[in-house]
Amino acid sequence: MVESDTGTARAPIQPVNRQVARGEPRLRVTGINKSYGAVEALREVDFEVYAGEVVGLVGDNGAGKSTLVKTLAGVIQADSGSIFRDGREVHIASPNEATQMGIETVYQDLALCDNLDVVANLYLGREAQQTVIPGLVKQLDETQMEARTNQILRQLDVKIPSVRTIVASLSGGQRQSIAVAKTVLRNPAVLLLDEPTAALGVVQTRQVLNLIGRLREQGLAVVMISHNLADVFEVADRVVVLRLGRRVGSFEIGATSSEQIVAAITGAEFGGITRGANATDAPYAGSEVAQ
Ligand SMILES: Nc1ncnc2c1ncn2[C@@H]1O[C@H](COP(=O)(O)OP(=O)(O)O)[C@@H](O)[C@H]1O
Ligand SMILES: [Mg+2]
Repeated sequence: MVESDTGTARAPIQPVNRQVARGEPRLRVTGINKSYGAVEALREVDFEVYAGEVVGLVGDNGAGKSTLVKTLAGVIQADSGSIFRDGREVHIASPNEATQMGIETVYQDLALCDNLDVVANLYLGREAQQTVIPGLVKQLDETQMEARTNQILRQLDVKIPSVRTIVASLSGGQRQSIAVAKTVLRNPAVLLLDEPTAALGVVQTRQVLNLIGRLREQGLAVVMISHNLADVFEVADRVVVLRLGRRVGSFEIGATSSEQIVAAITGAEFGGITRGANATDAPYAGSEVAQ
């Protein structure tokens, strides 16, 4: 089951190249640069996520994780670099364009309306996005919306008392799940999650990690920013590490220890251990990582 990007070099019994086996990534970026004044938030960053894959995006504070996700979400524009959706080069000029390309994002602050029920939250803002010709937009039918909400929550195995429950009375894990369900309503191919478990307790974290697992089963390409390596190891197939705006490694989770990830995050030199690691990019403290 364990795939390795370097399989041809190290594991001759598994010569299948990932790109051949899986086709084009759902989303790929190459050579992304983004500066804020003198701060180089992203430097020549390559990143990719495949259908049915969960990629953990990790790195210290300021490593560039949110900047990368915002670039993919159309919130900010890179200074240079290319973005490919299913192999086709695209320009993502706004969050709305990202949505149209099947790229959805759930941010940490969730943007749910506490005083509305679950159905209303799922459909909030949707009418506006569907307005093509003003005046010709059909009023969405309440019964239909409720049925669809129930269907999506069942599909994602999200358990709440009722879809007419006011969001304010839900737990943090349920709220996070509702925020994800809201994006699933738009049937995305790529889902970007910025710290989805950061504010959650153990049980709620488990709910959300299970949800991410189901999204993978349904073929979505999922990117999860996380500070919590335990969460990453539980749900991710692969971990991409950013440090000081550079991608310093991509690790298959089944062939990597948390020590190796921590070393990549911090830039620690692990000598022989580093050389034996499953990183597919530059060694953590190697020549490609500018100090
Ligand atoms: N809007 C902004 N203006 C100025 N600097 C920014 C802005 N957004 C991010 N940065 C800087 O870019 C770097 C990367 O930030 P960020 O992507 O938020 O990192 P992370 O999410 O990994 O903590 C940091 O040095 C941060 O201070
Ligand atoms: Mg961030």
